[in-house]
Amino acid sequence: MADLNAKLQNFRAPTFPGSYFFVLEGIEGSGKTTQINFLKSSFEKLDYRVLIVREPGGTIFGEKLRQAILQSNTDIHPLSEAFLFASSRAQLLHEVVLPELEKPRTIVLMDRYLFSTIAYQGVARGLGPELVISLHQYFPLNIIPHLTFYLKISVETSFLRQKHRNLPKDYFESRGKDFYLKLSSGYDACLNMFSSFIYINAEMDNLGVSTQMLGAIHKRFPDLSSLQVTQV
Ligand SMILES: Nc1ncnc2c1ncn2[C@@H]1O[C@H](COP(=O)(O)OP(=O)(O)O)[C@@H](O)[C@H]1O
Ligand SMILES: [Mg+2]
Repeated sequence: MADLNAKLQNFRAPTFPGSYFFVLEGIEGSGKTTQINFLKSSFEKLDYRVLIVREPGGTIFGEKLRQAILQSNTDIHPLSEAFLFASSRAQLLHEVVLPELEKPRTIVLMDRYLFSTIAYQGVARGLGPELVISLHQYFPLNIIPHLTFYLKISVETSFLRQKHRNLPKDYFESRGKDFYLKLSSGYDACLNMFSSFIYINAEMDNLGVSTQMLGAIHKRFPDLSSLQVTQV
């Protein structure tokens, strides 16, 4: 435990004045895509440059890795998966996230990050959260967002919303209820490890979810106090 705490101390948010890095996490159907678009509009109204980045992928290298995982028909070891995601993430930080944040008034919004690897490979696939954290001890993988919004819904709500969406199920989405319960417990574990990992009740309607997210931003970052909820 002392060892884990020492590892957690190595994580840092970027320090480019006036630029911010925010992440949305949560199981399928929790509203990440919906809310990331609302947040983009809110920041654009204040004349910020806003970039939406998706994980894994976001670079040519990362997109190839993404396809390798999502379209695989063979059994992939969770450690292979964890390294693959970490590899794509390091490239994304190096090639996109850090160079963009260096430019003034930039907001990087990311759909999934390190916390997904903790939940999926760490808890649901059994590697253990500490192993995943150990893989992220070195720059640039030790960069964490200013805030991560954990959009929490029940497994029942996830299935209901996925049914309405009617998209083909991919590698991760085709798993059953037990897998989703493990994922949720993995995300819950992140609440105890990262003070910038914020619980959001995502069972509420869109406006209710946006309001909670904006509240968390206002509380932590007074220079963003004029940011208002926008529903596109
Ligand atoms: N707060 C909400 N209340 C009701 N339905 C929602 C809410 N947020 C998203 N949805 C719906 O649930 C589905 C999944 O949302 P989406 O934003 O794609 O989630 P994710 O990207 O996390 O999988 C969509 O059909 C969306 O319209
Ligand atoms: Mg989505």
